Amino acid sequence: MALVSNHKFLSSNPVIRNIACLTGLKRPSSPRYVGMKFFRENSTWELDVKRCPCDLEFIDYIKDLGIEGKNIFHFGTGVHHIVGLENQKLDVPNEIIGITAAVPEHQAYVKLVLKNPDLAKYYKVIFADIYTLTANTLPRFDIINLFHLCEFYLPENSKITHHNDASLLQIFIDKLNPDGKIIFYSGSSAWGATKSLIKSLEETGQIKQVHEYKSLVVYTKA
Ligand SMILES: C[S@@+](CC[C@H](N)C(=O)[O-])C[C@H]1O[C@@H](n2cnc3c(N)ncnc32)[C@H](O)[C@@H]1O
Repeated sequence: MALVSNHKFLSSNPVIRNIACLTGLKRPSSPRYVGMKFFRENSTWELDVKRCPCDLEFIDYIKDLGIEGKNIFHFGTGVHHIVGLENQKLDVPNEIIGITAAVPEHQAYVKLVLKNPDLAKYYKVIFADIYTLTANTLPRFDIINLFHLCEFYLPENSKITHHNDASLLQIFIDKLNPDGKIIFYSGSSAWGATKSLIKSLEETGQIKQVHEYKSLVVYTKA
């Protein structure tokens, strides 16, 4: 148990890392046990409505609330890119910037755009570690989803990133347009940690909850 709770030891230990890479973690869903390099090179997240319905719920949210022509940030595209593909079908698509830290997921995006160049008009996918983004590299948004906040931060990478989860959340709040919404996913494996960050921002009067939609929790600037 001590080993399992110490992900820094696991991801920096070459023997453990090799075992992790050779066994069931060929397509790791988290960098925690395999390290960022292996995760980046190999991770591919397929659409899985039972394990992770957030992207499908986000699409339903956009459709149900008639959200069109807005600027959207989307944390964690998956290999399926369903958010970009469904957005493209709207009468007035939103302009979405998605992010993935996984090469296969980014390659899937490149292939989709080569087949369907219209996709890139409204859906751009950055290959980057979200913790390296800064106020200078981000525009303002009407809607920001941080579905996977607190799931993937690796403290051992702090020298090559700019943020941890708390400071990342802060720059995204600062990037919200007036009346903009920031949306979290209560089914996240790190929902406990995310909820604590949200609570402290609510307590300091920075954000307030607007509503819930399925497993999504929607906030705005207070
Ligand atoms: C569990 S998958 C979920 C994908 C999608 N939202 C879904 O529900 O099907 C997590 C996503 O977050 C991305 N991700 C993980 N760590 C990241 C990081 N540090 N920076 C940017 N994206 C990251 C992964 O590449 C992947 O696309």
